[in-house]
Amino acid sequence: MNVGPLSPGLLVSILVLIASLGAFGFWFSLDASVVSHPLFVLAILLVIFWLGIVWHLLEKNRQLREAMKKMAALEEINQLKDQLLTITSHELRTPITPIKANLQMLLSDYFGPLNETQKKSIQMVLRNAEHLDRLIEDILDVSRLEAGTMKFEYQTIDLLETIQSSVQSIQPLAQQKNIQIFHEPGMLPPLLADPHRLSQVMNNLLTNAVKFSHPGGVIRVSSRLENHEILVAVQDTGIGVSAEEIPKLFKPFSQADTSLTRRYEGFGLGLAISKGIVENHGGSIWMQSNRGSGAVVSFKLPILQVPPPLKRFSFFDTPKTGGHA
Ligand SMILES: Nc1ncnc2c1ncn2[C@@H]1O[C@H](COP(=O)(O)OP(=O)(O)OP(=O)(O)O)[C@@H](O)[C@H]1O
Ligand SMILES: [Mg+2]
Repeated sequence: MNVGPLSPGLLVSILVLIASLGAFGFWFSLDASVVSHPLFVLAILLVIFWLGIVWHLLEKNRQLREAMKKMAALEEINQLKDQLLTITSHELRTPITPIKANLQMLLSDYFGPLNETQKKSIQMVLRNAEHLDRLIEDILDVSRLEAGTMKFEYQTIDLLETIQSSVQSIQPLAQQKNIQIFHEPGMLPPLLADPHRLSQVMNNLLTNAVKFSHPGGVIRVSSRLENHEILVAVQDTGIGVSAEEIPKLFKPFSQADTSLTRRYEGFGLGLAISKGIVENHGGSIWMQSNRGSGAVVSFKLPILQVPPPLKRFSFFDTPKTGGHA
């Protein structure tokens, strides 16, 4: 919005003020005895009234300019933040690729045989390098979603296969905590979607369900067709979150009550990225939960005929009501 030195309202007020003063002066010059006339008092009041309005509009104009300046500064900071995130994550990623490659070569005895202790140590370093790589990839994904540059490769898929393979890949982590995962598959029609990105959503939701569940917990994954849309839900019996905290959790770097969840590792990016991916597919994602009584994270996907246009994502829009992200 461009605010010139004089807004239209202010300009009109000043013109009306000048006209009032002119008319009043002309009238007074015609007859000096007019001072005693009640209309004289009225004219004075009119002039004071317009002076008040002009003063008020000048003040509003000044406040508006200050707000615009602040907004421009905030916009600049936001752009700097985006640049910082993108550049830093690219730069961090560059050395990790050769680090991982060399560790894998060491593990495969490419540089000569290693003993068991050496292998265990290298495996541990490799696991940490992979973890770091995933974190950096998540930060890059948030930047891509905000810039509208995330790539989606749409194809006709069987979503049940995508869900099943995500459930299988999370099983070792679940078993470590003695958590059982049940998948209740419904009949699903073929879906036009990016299978890699939807696996990413499923992995994020399942990783959260395992991470925030107590040992011995149960996770239920369900999928069904409802009103021409596919509905997928991941339900757990874990720590849950309070209803007020839910909307913020779909924004990047947000976690529920940080003092409580800091003992669970993570950047607070999984739900934000999942929201970006699902909404780019034309769907929606939401969470239902209460602290201490588990959580259900669900998403809906429309049955598309053609890939939807790429969305430039703003994570800081006002959240929808009713627990929807
Ligand atoms: N199933 C769940 N049960 C309880 N809390 C959850 C659950 N899923 C998400 N949350 C809350 O939402 C926060 C954000 O989740 P999100 O997946 O975005 O981040 P994260 O898991 O903390 O880190 P990251 O996914 O980046 O590794 C979590 O930190 C946690 O507080
Ligand atoms: Mg997560």
